[in-house]
Amino acid sequence: MAAPKRVRVAIVGLGFGAEFIPIYQQHPNAEMYAICRRNKAELDLCGDQFGVKVRYPDYNELLKDPNVDAVHINSPIPDHAPQAIAALKAGKHVASTVPMGVSIDECRQIVELQKKTGKVYMMMETVVFSREYLFAKDLYDRGVLGRIQFLRGSHQQDMDGWPDYWPGLPPMWYATHCVSPCLAIMSDPAKHKLAHAESVVCHGSGRIREELIKKYNSPFAIESATFKIRGTDVVAEVTRSLFDTARQYRESFDVTASNVSFEWQQCEGEDPVLHMRGLPEPQIPRRVKVPDFAGRLPESIRKFTGAIHDATHLSFLQGAGHGGSHPHLVHNFLMAVLDKQPAFPDAATSANWTMVGICAHQSALNGGDRVNIPSF
Ligand SMILES: NC(=O)c1ccc[n+]([C@@H]2O[C@H](COP(=O)([O-])OP(=O)(O)OC[C@H]3O[C@@H](n4cnc5c(N)ncnc54)[C@H](O)[C@@H]3O)[C@@H](O)[C@H]2O)c1
Repeated sequence: MAAPKRVRVAIVGLGFGAEFIPIYQQHPNAEMYAICRRNKAELDLCGDQFGVKVRYPDYNELLKDPNVDAVHINSPIPDHAPQAIAALKAGKHVASTVPMGVSIDECRQIVELQKKTGKVYMMMETVVFSREYLFAKDLYDRGVLGRIQFLRGSHQQDMDGWPDYWPGLPPMWYATHCVSPCLAIMSDPAKHKLAHAESVVCHGSGRIREELIKKYNSPFAIESATFKIRGTDVVAEVTRSLFDTARQYRESFDVTASNVSFEWQQCEGEDPVLHMRGLPEPQIPRRVKVPDFAGRLPESIRKFTGAIHDATHLSFLQGAGHGGSHPHLVHNFLMAVLDKQPAFPDAATSANWTMVGICAHQSALNGGDRVNIPSF
């Protein structure tokens, strides 16, 4: 039997990025070929830990290596788009952590370059491969929820003390974790049906400390946006906060539908709730245990969803965070590169999910004016 085709992958940025190394190493269609970060000592430490021999402290040198088929970018936010653009120009496939970029022009350039080069671009959005999202999506696709009437996402995090590109960041510039599930649930990527947002209205509320406001000239503690989903009568609402707001970390997503509604969580560790229409009031809400979707993955990487607790691999199981999404992301990206299934999200969809937030922040700065989301 012929050996499976392998994509030679390079990972750039080795904080969060390092969590993906063992997943690529154990995927039958990947060769975990190279790693890149600027600090040579830290680069070597990571390379030695995971047994990756090819190491680049300089990203531009990595792009010159003809053995690299694909880069997976996990650098700081302002570098995502410039590095993705350079990689596409160098003829590499690109997986990039969220967000795609921080301006409409960056998103436009990536969409145009992806079309021109024919290479894969995929934004590695964890939420749309989390087990909670996959559960809600499965219920919707099987007709259990009924008609979707409204969607709500929220992502709140206290980013005080995080690296220097975070302080003062407009909350909506990092909104894909709450925007994406609202659009993904209405999409069917296998049939190339991709729900995109059309326009957004956003209000900024409260005020963060003056020293935080300076960097991005963004004063709001909370940004709350509603957006229309093109070609449907459904509206979604998303809420973001990053500074000076008391809230446990929350990444959550609710689907309000005609028969059964899904609510993800209030606090970490809580099971989601299904609300069933037509039952006596006290019986309407029911907590549910969300199943694991590891069965959709090649056997060798199923453990990275956290479904299988293998004590010998515990240090490699961090992918079990973010709802067990990391191996699903890796698998989807590799299958897209090998032309077995579309990237989800593809470049245009990654741009739309990212631009909801960029346009929302613009709207908030303009006192809540409606902003149309460009489509390229
Ligand atoms: N759920 C998610 O999707 C999720 C979770 C965590 C982090 N992230 C994203 O991942 C990115 C990285 O997060 P982090 O917490 O690891 O950040 P970090 O600042 O701790 O690490 C960034 C890494 O990038 C490297 N780097 C910086 N500039 C570089 C350059 N020019 N060339 C090569 N390498 C470079 C650094 O050396 C470091 O290894 C962020 O953009 C963050 O938003 C996404």
